[in-house]
Amino acid sequence: MKILFGITGGIAAYKIPQVIRRLVQRGHEVEVVMTPAAAKLVSPFLLQTLSKRPVWVEDFDSRRPLAHIELADWCDVMVVAPATANTIAKLAWGMADNLLTSTFLACEKRKVIFPAMNVKMYENLLTKQNIQRLREVGCEVYEPEVGELACGYTGRGRLADEEVILGVVDRDPRKPLEGLRVVVSTGATVEPLDPVRYISNFSSGKMGIAFAKRLFSLGAEVLLVAGRTEIPLPLYIPSRRVQTTADMLRVIDDVMKDYDVLVMAAAPADFRAKEMAVEKIKREGKLSLDLVSNPDIVATIHEHYPEKRLIGFALEMKGHEGNAKEKMKRKGLEAIILNTVSSEFHPMGSDENEVVVYKASGEEISIPRLPKERVVEKVVDFLFFGEKA
Ligand code: CTP
Repeated sequence: MKILFGITGGIAAYKIPQVIRRLVQRGHEVEVVMTPAAAKLVSPFLLQTLSKRPVWVEDFDSRRPLAHIELADWCDVMVVAPATANTIAKLAWGMADNLLTSTFLACEKRKVIFPAMNVKMYENLLTKQNIQRLREVGCEVYEPEVGELACGYTGRGRLADEEVILGVVDRDPRKPLEGLRVVVSTGATVEPLDPVRYISNFSSGKMGIAFAKRLFSLGAEVLLVAGRTEIPLPLYIPSRRVQTTADMLRVIDDVMKDYDVLVMAAAPADFRAKEMAVEKIKREGKLSLDLVSNPDIVATIHEHYPEKRLIGFALEMKGHEGNAKEKMKRKGLEAIILNTVSSEFHPMGSDENEVVVYKASGEEISIPRLPKERVVEKVVDFLFFGEKA
């Protein structure tokens, strides 16, 4: 992807070289345009070295007299980070008084803005109205974070986290899944036995998180509902943390009216203690647990929302295909992704997976062992674009 990275003169500009380095490492072409104030904070020479392309600061640069038009035409996405209150005001009112602002005005591509400033400047109604104006004309403006600010104040104004900038920018500019709203459940639910012990399973959450990232990167609106996971949740995707299977059911049931699809990648604990012990169970001799069955989340969602698209997973040890297809039918799924545990391979916790996907329509696809992210790309292509490559 061709990324035009605009940097304005906020202190947070010192964080941008690392972001640019990581975008280049991901295979993107990144060209930098800076305001003269930003060039006082971060060396254009440093950015030129990291981006391996020229850096643009001056309005009348004899190397490229029409830089503002050419750069706007060249890029797939224009990013402004950090965006100061001053530049936000100029962008909102169509001013073009330096190379960055004139390029922004000439740019008809996807535009993403990450404000960073003093909390009082951010909360000033004028800044809020300017941000609103930018959103109304289709710019994506991401909220800064709350924290300690360079000016000494604490409040909302810190530049969004590096992972958020990378996740948001690294989105397919064509947004083929724009408008699709997807809930992705992930991780293992946890059922307490007493105040310090629980029953759960080995699910790491990796498949569900990979699903959420892939759908988000294709332009879908994604909500992650996560139990216990071994890896962190992506900060740029809205998420809800839950503990038990009943909690997960409650949250999904509550939000599903606003979503089109549920990808049920979580591994809910199938049993819970009939009664949770109030005190820590003592280690005296033998212990028998009285367990009861948990509700089936996806089957319940099917009953409550028969018109929604539900995609499930099946984890099987034997009788793979028959069991997966039976689960797909019983739970009202549009498709099921079969993972198989064998003596030679266990998908739970692994960074790799191999799956077979069955659609209720009868189509199917086998995906050989690959990193989970690659498997998910292929599954998403099959489920949402009907591609079997
Ligand atoms: N699932 C669910 N609620 C549960 C258990 C499972 O919604 N309480 C979902 C899983 O997220 C998955 C699908 O149902 O998408 C199949 O899960 P799996 O563990 O393979 O099947 P189970 O229904 O639990 O059946 P069994 O464990 O007997 O194979």
